[in-house]
Amino acid sequence: MENKKVLSMIQPSGLPTLGNYLGALKNWSNVAAEYDCAFAVADLHAITVRQDPQKFKKQIFDMYSLLLALGLKPEKNIIFVQSQVPTHAQLAWILDCYTQFGEMSRMTQFKDKSKAHPENINVGLFAYPALMAADILLYQADYVPVGADQKQHLEITRDIAERFNGLYGDTFTVPEPLIVETGARIMSLQDPTKKMSKSDPNPKGYISIFDGKDIIAKRIKSAVTDSEACVRFAEGKDGVNNLMSIYSCCTGKTNEEIEAEFAGQGYGIFKQAVADAVIEELGPLQDEFARITADRAYVEDCMKQGADTAYRISSRTLAKVMKKVGYYQFKK
Ligand code: TRP
Repeated sequence: MENKKVLSMIQPSGLPTLGNYLGALKNWSNVAAEYDCAFAVADLHAITVRQDPQKFKKQIFDMYSLLLALGLKPEKNIIFVQSQVPTHAQLAWILDCYTQFGEMSRMTQFKDKSKAHPENINVGLFAYPALMAADILLYQADYVPVGADQKQHLEITRDIAERFNGLYGDTFTVPEPLIVETGARIMSLQDPTKKMSKSDPNPKGYISIFDGKDIIAKRIKSAVTDSEACVRFAEGKDGVNNLMSIYSCCTGKTNEEIEAEFAGQGYGIFKQAVADAVIEELGPLQDEFARITADRAYVEDCMKQGADTAYRISSRTLAKVMKKVGYYQFKK
């Protein structure tokens, strides 16, 4: 039997935080071991907010290189850049015409982003979920790993797929969310009730996955805790809980093991251990990233090969859709 298919994509908007890494990226190589996977850099989605052209180009290259640095294998998985595969924009247009204004208007991300950027509420921002649906449906993905913020977009993808299948007969696999057991929701180091985010105006709230040792140590040391001076996972101890999650993700230890390890000790020693664990976790990734980005020809080779394969596979779905809609196609 064929393996189940998984599609994962990430936007190239700046380099990810420790939260993105521990919550999602770190797990991608495990997902790759278990399923037939495609991984991509969602650079078409990224221009729904204005990008500086020079920086944008570098971010796409860096994000693609990071996928390789994670240990994802271009011989085994399809690893590509979305804008290099024209079928995504093509299917997105068709799906736009099978998506209602009303249902798009209910997307919370659209509402939030419109509020945050009232000066640039562009049509792309509105239609973004149909492009995401195209990404997923082109590869007939069975599962999509999604965080809480993308769940609604996966639901509308399912609605669009079911609607199209209802009208024209089986065309698309209806995808399901892939809930991964490992991977925690890492919170801001300064306000542990909010998700860690690189758009945090206070840089002390996050660690970028490319921060050096000193910055990592400094950020962990200044993380908000509480006055109990006891390392235990409990309600109301958001700061300590968050540091425990980080430590747990880096070391594989359970909360009970961590509590036992630091019993009777203050936060100073605990924070030092968390900082060391994070440094040890990110160091090899940073070295691998440096090695890969130094070889532009290799990265570009992988990009080309990935785009070719992605195009070949996605073209089959697109042709099927166009035939069903009634587009004029030549006999082969
Ligand atoms: N919208 C997703 C995000 O911002 C990125 C994305 C685009 C995506 N296309 C996708 C994720 C397809 C999964 C599948 O995180």
